[in-house]
Amino acid sequence: MRNLVIICFTLLVSNIAIADSSYDRGKEKSVTCSACHGTDGNNDNKMYPRLAGQYKNYLIHALNSYKSGERKNAIMSGFAAGLSSQDIVDLSTYYSKQKGLNIIPKN
Ligand code: HEC
Repeated sequence: MRNLVIICFTLLVSNIAIADSSYDRGKEKSVTCSACHGTDGNNDNKMYPRLAGQYKNYLIHALNSYKSGERKNAIMSGFAAGLSSQDIVDLSTYYSKQKGLNIIPKN
């Protein structure tokens, strides 16, 4: 029984570590995206959708749709084309964990 508890605890801790590294990788990769979407996925320009606080699954779906061509946008198709499935998960993890600010767009 004691061993089982230790195994469960180890699995739990290693799962957290994996989730954290996906977040960290996403944060690193988001530098490219921040020019338009803002540093943490919040921006005050209505031309660019806010990514902060979006559902992770929604972001994964949106990026895969640009990548497959199901969703068409000249800018995003180009960016999504260069992302691997792992990049998409990492970026979506990062942005979904940011706080979506209620900024009123200036322009
Ligand atoms: C040059 C500006 C620019 C850059 C850089 C950029 N995006 Fe975008 N992004 C846009 C625009 C414009 C749209 C809206 C496109 C549309 O109408 O479908 C968009 C849309 C999105 C959407 C869909 C949002 C929604 O609400 O449906 C996601 C997700 C996204 N971008 C993620 C990213 C990620 C991740 C990166 C970095 C790898 C990135 N973008 C880099 C301009 C940019």
